[in-house]
Amino acid sequence: MFKRLLGMLLGALLSIQIGSVQAAAIAMPDRFSAAAAKAVLLEGGNAVDAAVAAGFVLAVTYPEAGNLGGGGFMTLVTRPVENLQSGRQAYFLDYRETAPQAAFRDLYLDQQGEVIPYRSLVGYQASGVPGTVMGLWQAHQRFGSKPWKKLLQYAIDYAEQGFEVPPALEENRRWYQQWIEGKSSDALNFSEHFGALQSGRMFKQPQLAKTLKRIAARGAADFYQGETARMLVQQLQTHGGLMTLDDLAAYQAKWREPVRFGWQGREVVSAPPPSSGGVAIGQLLKLYALLQPELQAQRQHNRELPEQALKTHFYAELEKRVYADRAEFLGDPDFVDVPVERLLSDAYLQQRAQGVLWDAISESESIRPGKIELPETTHFSIVDAHGNAVSNTYTLNMPFGSGVVIEQAGFLMNNEMDDFSTKPGVANVFGVVGGTANEIAPHKRMLSSMSPTILLKDGEVEMVVGTPGGSTIITSVFQVIVNVLAEGMTPQQALDAPRVHHQLLPKDQIAYNPDLPEAVKSALELMGYTLKRNNYMGDVQLVVCDKTHCEAASDVRGRGVSAAW
Ligand code: DON
Repeated sequence: MFKRLLGMLLGALLSIQIGSVQAAAIAMPDRFSAAAAKAVLLEGGNAVDAAVAAGFVLAVTYPEAGNLGGGGFMTLVTRPVENLQSGRQAYFLDYRETAPQAAFRDLYLDQQGEVIPYRSLVGYQASGVPGTVMGLWQAHQRFGSKPWKKLLQYAIDYAEQGFEVPPALEENRRWYQQWIEGKSSDALNFSEHFGALQSGRMFKQPQLAKTLKRIAARGAADFYQGETARMLVQQLQTHGGLMTLDDLAAYQAKWREPVRFGWQGREVVSAPPPSSGGVAIGQLLKLYALLQPELQAQRQHNRELPEQALKTHFYAELEKRVYADRAEFLGDPDFVDVPVERLLSDAYLQQRAQGVLWDAISESESIRPGKIELPETTHFSIVDAHGNAVSNTYTLNMPFGSGVVIEQAGFLMNNEMDDFSTKPGVANVFGVVGGTANEIAPHKRMLSSMSPTILLKDGEVEMVVGTPGGSTIITSVFQVIVNVLAEGMTPQQALDAPRVHHQLLPKDQIAYNPDLPEAVKSALELMGYTLKRNNYMGDVQLVVCDKTHCEAASDVRGRGVSAAW
């Protein structure tokens, strides 16, 4: 307690001495990561230090999505640092998984060319080469200010001494055990390792603690070339997995130019390919702005339609155009040319906006059955007292990934291979389709929707936002930005408000969460939409700042904890 108080005092003093924006805030997906991130910041660590500590803690306390065996993206904004060679202040770190060398386009098809059910989701062939450890390592190498080893200690403690299992974690564990049942003939060991997750009980992970200690001592080299690499490859290869030691040794996290565009007097900084997020959110926000005059005119003209129904239809019209572009053009930029600038250009979007219909539903070009399962990824948003911000989303893809635990190392493997287009036109677990731009190739990154985003106003951080939710990530981030900046909601109101989602396919289906008023639903049904409650629509972690203070909010839909000071 005394140590904590001292830390708080020191933290406060430090931020005053630096004399920049003194507000700091965190919005984290669970209380353990919140405690670690806050402690690091109060001890004078910066946003990246806090992100590294939290990233490893979540690998212990949020095993649905926090991970060592997965991957993700980090969007960062830093104050100008004098000795930094490039004058730019916004960065993006891509630590997405890659396909193993042995992967090929038709990996998941049988001899008749049909998709083998669940092969890309459950078992030993579902995993891409993990990127998380390299990502956190590289972020720390470039921007960290506290010792790596010290930052990993929070996670090591939770793994060694245990943490109290939250009710939602037990629920998710039960759901997942039932979900993987019978989906793979591989020997899955999820239940052996995580079957004992019980609400209110302490859960210890001794093997994971050892792995974290090795990574603390040797850095990313342990995971990619050392003992952990050997454990991982040995187990995967025994069971028909594709990954090799060479795949791990060849893995690189990549610094990329983030997607940047202006919107209503701000600069939005978001995820470039291999995420579809930044492009899609850019298209949505720009289309939203372009069509405002017409939306207002429709409001006047069509007064009997409930406001929320009109808005939902408007969003659906924008979203179906955006998801059509996503399916066609987006993929790993190291393999395909993604026309980012064109997709975000005013001329192109003006042309796209012209097709938007106000009193009828635009035809979807083709119909595919979508299936949205319980998804799980996790996001956190951090602003430190110096005005640096980190927006980080990472994942195993589905909750708990592929159902495979690396035995001696105690961590779960991802099932991110399902984010590739396994066959043109066939929907993945999130119901989204793709074509050649996102087909499987060795070392290629699978297309993502993860969209860690930061908005700047007058060069200062105004918003840090992101969420899990598979294909709904894009529309959730879009709606939260609009809720706060165009509709004037407080951060918490913006997260609690119902969100709607349309992704082109299934045709004319709008998903919502939480419930919409009956009048809104009937009006939409009358227009020809089918409505589907989506039991899960993200877990947004949001920080909003002005020049003097920050506010933070965590989605009601999750178990997040936020704080600003
Ligand atoms: O990268 C993607 O878009 C997905 N693998 C993210 C999965 C996800 O968000 C699941 N979560 N809720």
